[in-house]
Amino acid sequence: MKDWIGNKKSTFIQLGASNHSNKEREERDFYATDPKALEIFLDKLDEDKIELHNDIWECACGMGHLSEVLKKRDYCVFSSDIVNREYKEMMAKDFLQTTTTYPTGVEMDILTNPPYKYAQEFVEHALDIQADGYYTIMFLKIQFLEGQARKKLFEKYPPKYVYVNSARQLCAMNGEFDKYKATAICYCWFIWQKGFKGESVIRWI
Ligand SMILES: C[S@@+](CC[C@H](N)C(=O)[O-])C[C@H]1O[C@@H](n2cnc3c(N)ncnc32)[C@H](O)[C@@H]1O
Repeated sequence: MKDWIGNKKSTFIQLGASNHSNKEREERDFYATDPKALEIFLDKLDEDKIELHNDIWECACGMGHLSEVLKKRDYCVFSSDIVNREYKEMMAKDFLQTTTTYPTGVEMDILTNPPYKYAQEFVEHALDIQADGYYTIMFLKIQFLEGQARKKLFEKYPPKYVYVNSARQLCAMNGEFDKYKATAICYCWFIWQKGFKGESVIRWI
């Protein structure tokens, strides 16, 4: 398995890494995703014979909760975030200012739980810069389906699949899972494949 540590691209990893205050960390919408949410989603994709590309960009990686699950499954993971939260494999990078999906030299799928405030911007930006056939996968509240701005987005970029979690999955502010035992929020995994123009399929995990 390839990894970014030791790879020559890893010279980027700490460049520009920023020291943000705790307040700024919260303001940047840091809610870590329970790794289990990604585990059960990837199991379901296996069952449904949906194969992601080997190279995946976690473009708002926080402390690496999702990146680590992907790595364990042997994906080649590139991790970045606007704030350095001491995840040792991250590169400091404002995703919305990026212009390609291959900062490492290869095209990649994108998978993240984006900052809630900029969820739509993240989806649009990922799809704008992505090459045909690659996946953008986002962990989003089910409410992402509604709204006029979303309607426009879905007309331009219909998701190929929406996987709804039938059991609630947890996200914890600042990664403090001890403080978050339950949630009233229903999350879904939205899957876009650049170039897809058909009807969206909804499935349940
Ligand atoms: C909801 S948290 C999710 C963290 C991680 N993806 C996970 O699931 O555990 C959103 C993350 O987006 C990062 N973020 C906010 N704005 C960003 C930007 N413009 N570019 C890159 N990351 C950003 C925050 O710093 C935060 O770590």
